[in-house]
Amino acid sequence: MASDHGGFEMKEFLKNKLIEAGYKIKDFGTHSEESVDYPDIIHPLAKAINNGEYKIGIIMCGSGNGAQIVANKYPNVRAGLCWNEEQTMLIRLHNNANILSLPGRFIPFDQAWKMVEIFLSTDFEGGRHVQRVDKISKIL
Ligand code: RB5
Repeated sequence: MASDHGGFEMKEFLKNKLIEAGYKIKDFGTHSEESVDYPDIIHPLAKAINNGEYKIGIIMCGSGNGAQIVANKYPNVRAGLCWNEEQTMLIRLHNNANILSLPGRFIPFDQAWKMVEIFLSTDFEGGRHVQRVDKISKIL
């Protein structure tokens, strides 16, 4: 998990829920509400997903946009910005996303938790989506 100050409160909420549910979490920061630059926090998490050190990431900033834009600089990262449960299901089913980006200042924390549960429990659908996902990194 990683967030800037805009996603800090949501990250702490979701981290506690995940720990309660039995997950082991690597928290890349930030560790307070003090203002930070989101690329400084998101790059290390995205690098760790990109090199295979971790399989799944959950990132937040105020809007979710900055965090997602940074993460998607990496060729093995597919980060989706989601605002609701259905979008979250679709980034797993259709896009095989390995990072969920959340708008920390715009959606209720309970809804974000439902989205995280969906993200972690939904498998890639495969089929027609395999070649589409392959083309994301093959066609530049
Ligand atoms: C920080 O104020 C805010 O700009 C940041 O959290 C994020 O929304 C950027 O995309």
